[in-house]
Amino acid sequence: MINFIVNSEKCSKCRQCVKECPSEIIQMEKDIPFIPQDKEKECIKCQHCLAVCPGGAISILGFDPENSIEINAGFPDPGEMEFLIKGRRSTRRFKKENIDAKEVSKLINAASYAPTGCNAMSIHFTLIDEYKKMARFRELALDQLRIVVSEKKLPRGFEFFEGIMKKWDDDKIDVIFRDAPHLIIASCPKDCVTPVEDSIIALTNFELLANSMGLGTLWVGLVKWLITELAPDLKKVLNIPENHIVGYVMLFGKPAVKFYRTIQRKPETINIPNIN
Ligand SMILES: Cc1cc2nc3c(=O)[nH]c(=O)nc-3n(C[C@H](O)[C@H](O)[C@H](O)COP(=O)(O)O)c2cc1C
Repeated sequence: MINFIVNSEKCSKCRQCVKECPSEIIQMEKDIPFIPQDKEKECIKCQHCLAVCPGGAISILGFDPENSIEINAGFPDPGEMEFLIKGRRSTRRFKKENIDAKEVSKLINAASYAPTGCNAMSIHFTLIDEYKKMARFRELALDQLRIVVSEKKLPRGFEFFEGIMKKWDDDKIDVIFRDAPHLIIASCPKDCVTPVEDSIIALTNFELLANSMGLGTLWVGLVKWLITELAPDLKKVLNIPENHIVGYVMLFGKPAVKFYRTIQRKPETINIPNIN
């Protein structure tokens, strides 16, 4: 049931929903938009019908258009967006402070607005919500890594983890978790066609909003490899569903570093094929 409901008093019969629906399943019946029951399974749950209706007449999937954010004034200034994109940096030094749960849920909510190849809101977020729990998880994770290293079971290509383990054991230098207070993992069910892409795009939203809120983030391939390739039992510790593919992992928290300027980059090449 997709719960497609039209408020006939608010509907101006403009047919925008009919034109916008990517599955082309909305029809006009007696001048009112309508989805035949046998077509409901073709709905990709994008909610464009709700978003495109000028009068806010359409609700779907139980979502009332009254609860959407109106898009009247346009998006943030392009200069501000460019500044955020260029000014964001990877954070590798964090304060040992928890972030307010409300701020974290705002970030996860924004992440869920990302485009998805799977369409169906199937991204799952696993969150370590306290510094204390991060410290405990790190201990468990490094214990498992130590076993893999000592039994010489590091898979080919991951031999460098031996040096990382040594840095921790000899000097307590945390190359993997960076002593961050929080970690978030985006995962998707295996039957999703684009699990990794969807996860990465969602975490990109998360990262940009987090940075705009003064928080620091770090994509961590090292943690992803640790929990997927080296010590997959850690997925159980984290309670990640067995049928899920881990898309990506991100550390975040209040930064203990301040950047005073952007870095500078140029695209390596821009390929403009000569197509006549
Ligand atoms: C997919 C991905 C995985 C990464 N994994 C790690 C990691 O495990 N540890 C780390 O310190 N940095 C990691 N980084 C951060 C990169 O090193 C960083 O983005 C790059 O040096 C550019 O710096 P910037 O993000 O400040 O622009 C990763 C970045 C990406 C995009």
